[in-house]
Amino acid sequence: MTAVTDPVRVSATLKGDGDGMTYPILPPRNNDSAGGLLSVQRDLGALDGAALRETWDARLGSREFPYRSGVWRYRELIAPFPDGDIVSAPEGNTNLYCGEGITRCPGCRVTGCKLANYAGVERVAMKHEGENPTASFKDRGMTAAISHARHAGAVTVACASTGNTSASLAAYAAKAGMRALVFVPDGKITSGKLGQTLAYGAQVVQIRGDFDAALALVQEVAASLPVFLANNINPFRIEGQKTIAFELVQQRGWRAPDWLVLPGGNLGNTSAIGKGFLELYDLGIIDRVPRFATIQAAGASPFARWFTSGFDHYEPMQAETLASAIRIGNPVSRHRARKIIERTDGVAIAVSDDAILDAKRAIDMAGIGCEPASAATLAGIKELRAQGVIAADADIVGILTGHVLKDAEATVRIHLDGPAARPPIVIEPSLAAVERLLSQS
Ligand code: F0G
Repeated sequence: MTAVTDPVRVSATLKGDGDGMTYPILPPRNNDSAGGLLSVQRDLGALDGAALRETWDARLGSREFPYRSGVWRYRELIAPFPDGDIVSAPEGNTNLYCGEGITRCPGCRVTGCKLANYAGVERVAMKHEGENPTASFKDRGMTAAISHARHAGAVTVACASTGNTSASLAAYAAKAGMRALVFVPDGKITSGKLGQTLAYGAQVVQIRGDFDAALALVQEVAASLPVFLANNINPFRIEGQKTIAFELVQQRGWRAPDWLVLPGGNLGNTSAIGKGFLELYDLGIIDRVPRFATIQAAGASPFARWFTSGFDHYEPMQAETLASAIRIGNPVSRHRARKIIERTDGVAIAVSDDAILDAKRAIDMAGIGCEPASAATLAGIKELRAQGVIAADADIVGILTGHVLKDAEATVRIHLDGPAARPPIVIEPSLAAVERLLSQS
């Protein structure tokens, strides 16, 4: 076993899901010889888990590049790129709201307890990945993918997106001085995400088709043109994203929760966070792996349906949901996500758009806030508790994937009409008018 000395010397190779063969990390490739995805592998048996944990704790609060980042803090398990190739904002270091050891809940006066009450459980902690530099969890994977692109000398980077990946790619490409090309479904991403992507200087290509068509197109583009693909097909995206698991376990004093609940779209995040937990387990840093619950919107739920069939019958679907970030009908990482659900005795369920909006209102009104897709997490916890799958006293961590400002249209809509509407009111600018207002409520 080696103590942790030089993180760049922890070598990594790529392994094909399809052919099981090993490939070098350069030149970048998107698939193995059988068309399978590639994942980063390293010899964990040669690493000392206790020493890694100590190193990672020592880096907390570091001001040294790149260790301030909540991704590169775990550099030994991210990528063997030299400092000069790392493109970091920095990212991560996101809050874990409520939950044991983070915020106490005396007399249920703190926000987290409102969420536990809402879901009918005793406690729930929410890790808010909307607190990343471009306001979604995508930055964790993107710092690793764009560093890979720089390592490979890429000039142009591209992705397909429902809006968050594109904003993240645009920002990191801008930092790295690369040209960014993003393919998005025409009219199906929020104005906030479109504005963000344009603001960071990417070339936006709106396609007449959905996310699934955009992803197929960008894969074709990357296979035939000198364009670096930065979707979560890129194996280093997964390496960066898995640090959600590392960071939340570190925030909890290196204890894994009973349940890890998150929204599912293309299912890269289920795969990545699952990989993160399994690596910590294999290193002896945690003594068990949480059960995973992947929550999809009912109108975009091919994975939940596949799970319900006992993973017997898979069918892509024409996706439709107001949670536009997860409007995906044929998730590319489904096989990997299936392995995580099976390995962790997990579940995959679908929740309605109404349940998502209701949960979003609860998260927003707790002073935390998130975009609709993220609220699938809380709607899912509530549903799984109602079904008796999650016990009332379970130790649960949910992932909020995107910031409340990502979809202002949805938020305003919730408060303008519907059962709990609280539209803004217009008054004259006088003390009397405010007095009248206060006397009414
Ligand atoms: N939540 C948000 C806010 C997202 O943006 C996404 C995916 C997900 C959840 C689902 O994660 O795909 O790993 O299962 N957004 C991608 C994008 C598709 O293009 O921004 P997943």
